[in-house]
Amino acid sequence: MQYDPFQKQAIEYINQGHSVLVSAPTGAGKTLIAEHIIREAIRKKEKVIYTAPIKALSNQKFREFQEETEGHVGILTGDVTLNAQASVLIMTTEIFRNKILESTEVLQDYAWIIFDEIHYLDDYERGSVWEESLIFLPPHMKFLGLSATIPNIDELAQWLENIHGRSVKVVRENKRPVPLHFFYQCQGEVYEEFTHLIKKGFRRVDSIQGHYGKWPQHISVRPNKPVSLIKYLFENDLLPCIYFAFSRKRTEYLAEEIQAMNFLNDQERADIMAHFKELCRRFDLTNEPSAQKLRPLIERGIGYHHAGMLPTLKEVVERLFTSRLLKVIFTTETFALGINMPARTVVFDELRKYYGRGFAVLRTRDFFQMAGRAGRRSIDTEGHVFCRVNPRYISTQELKGIVYGAPEKVASQFNTSYATILNLYQNYRERLYDIYPRSFHYFQVGKNLHKRATDLMRTKVNILKEFGCIRKNRLTAKGIFAGKVYGYELILSQLYEEGVLENFSLRELAVLSTAVVYEPRKGQQPPYLNRLAKNLERMTNKIMDDIHRLEKRAGIRDVSKRCYFHLTAAMEAWVNQEGFQETLEHTDTDEGEMVRYFRMSIQILREISEAPVSDFLKERIQQTIGLINRDVIDSEKQLRM
Ligand SMILES: Nc1ncnc2c1ncn2[C@@H]1O[C@H](COP(=O)(O)OP(=O)(O)OP(=O)(O)O)[C@@H](O)[C@H]1O
Ligand SMILES: [Mg+2]
Repeated sequence: MQYDPFQKQAIEYINQGHSVLVSAPTGAGKTLIAEHIIREAIRKKEKVIYTAPIKALSNQKFREFQEETEGHVGILTGDVTLNAQASVLIMTTEIFRNKILESTEVLQDYAWIIFDEIHYLDDYERGSVWEESLIFLPPHMKFLGLSATIPNIDELAQWLENIHGRSVKVVRENKRPVPLHFFYQCQGEVYEEFTHLIKKGFRRVDSIQGHYGKWPQHISVRPNKPVSLIKYLFENDLLPCIYFAFSRKRTEYLAEEIQAMNFLNDQERADIMAHFKELCRRFDLTNEPSAQKLRPLIERGIGYHHAGMLPTLKEVVERLFTSRLLKVIFTTETFALGINMPARTVVFDELRKYYGRGFAVLRTRDFFQMAGRAGRRSIDTEGHVFCRVNPRYISTQELKGIVYGAPEKVASQFNTSYATILNLYQNYRERLYDIYPRSFHYFQVGKNLHKRATDLMRTKVNILKEFGCIRKNRLTAKGIFAGKVYGYELILSQLYEEGVLENFSLRELAVLSTAVVYEPRKGQQPPYLNRLAKNLERMTNKIMDDIHRLEKRAGIRDVSKRCYFHLTAAMEAWVNQEGFQETLEHTDTDEGEMVRYFRMSIQILREISEAPVSDFLKERIQQTIGLINRDVIDSEKQLRM
């Protein structure tokens, strides 16, 4: 394979010993640069860390690198620890951040860190983790940051040069290896030109753009059927296609809507079914109802993929897709991030999605992350992107902004957690506030916001003092404990201080850990609770009320999360060693979600047992984890399959 100029440039900088930031479109080939570092490191007997924002991506890279490095690779993701001494260690960015805050000594042997999808720095919930990792990067480590196209990559580099006092090289590639061609489906017609879409698709309605909800009854909009679009793609030889929809239900609904169609010939059908059968056997899914439900679709070359599905079943669908036997896959956004799964065509069901606090039109960067899945290198001369447009819900202005606008800048979301603050306090005490000027936030925003950010840090320190985590300028035992349990610091450290954790039965530890991590869906019914859960709920609610009072009084907007006991009955069934299907009957949570929450329970239990707690509690926690971590919940097992 011939390296592209941007790949050559980046590799040259790396060989000269510089840290490098790369901004390049989806599918441009950023991984190759990471692989160069990995290869060189193995040759020089150095060690490398690779971090990714989502587990699906770390898992895929684990498998890829394993082949490439002949077993020199390990993984550390909170619920999985495999080969932790390996020269190439894959981890979540959270784990890396926790490690550097603890002590940089453990990182002595690592010469490089690779941050894949580094633009995650501006994720509202998790972005601060990237920023903290970069601020506290030990001086002996060089970094490679791989980013989707962002306009302010230079600003990011300047900030890093400033705080670390060493050169950071920027490599930018704006061209896509396979160019994209945009189409629109509107009022039942396909338009190749934006101007035609405006003239015809938006005819009569253009004058009232933007007045959602006030749509005049006398103007009708002709139906715009997904089925006819898929038919169009099939007839015009534009498959395989990835069809992005923004809810799990919708992906399944759409797949069933086109079930009458068939995209495979006899040979292909025989191939895909043989492959499917073998994968189901390997991943222990042969008797799983969800796999059986998928079967008649797979037989026609159709699939779906979303976070509510079993992780193993998702993996089966991914593998069928990469083997090119699936022709149409309906999926949510998770399919777009970093995973190497290109298609000839990408379809957007709509151009609005839920952004944490409500529905909004897609950001240009997110749009291109997904659109960029269209066009396979060395197979397609161009990628086709179809946007389904309903003039009732989107204005021509908005549409233009998404498709033809510039991608958004990466903006700092610096917002240190209680645990981060506690770990920093350990080393810096009251000089803690000197850290803020090292942040990207400080570099990016004006003076007024500087004050607000420092005030927020002070507020959190004061809360931690009032809560008994810091006393006389030192961390108390409670504070040391809280510093180990990221995200759930206050509730868990209170239970620890009251000595309650020590007295919990295995059952209570299991139920509590899921309640700590669980987030109910909007409008989800409160569960029926047995006595054990009622007691735990009363206990945790009382503590959370106090915590919220403290936080609200201090003016904290995003207060700590409550405990929710919706998964109690399911967790009890599971630790009683009931089967997966029986366990599922105890909850209205999707199976994939349940797996995710049980895995998160294991993770938080691990964190508790790594805090300085009694050997007795450690032993109990190990036993509890042993009861939970089996079959589909065991993510290590899945990785070894
Ligand atoms: N120089 C090259 N010539 C031909 N193919 C290449 C080249 N570099 C990379 N590729 C191929 O391009 C595909 C996409 O590469 P890769 O996954 O590294 O993209 P990426 O830039 O990381 O995209 P994403 O934003 O999705 O993470 C891979 O199949 C890879 O093998
Ligand atoms: Mg990538």
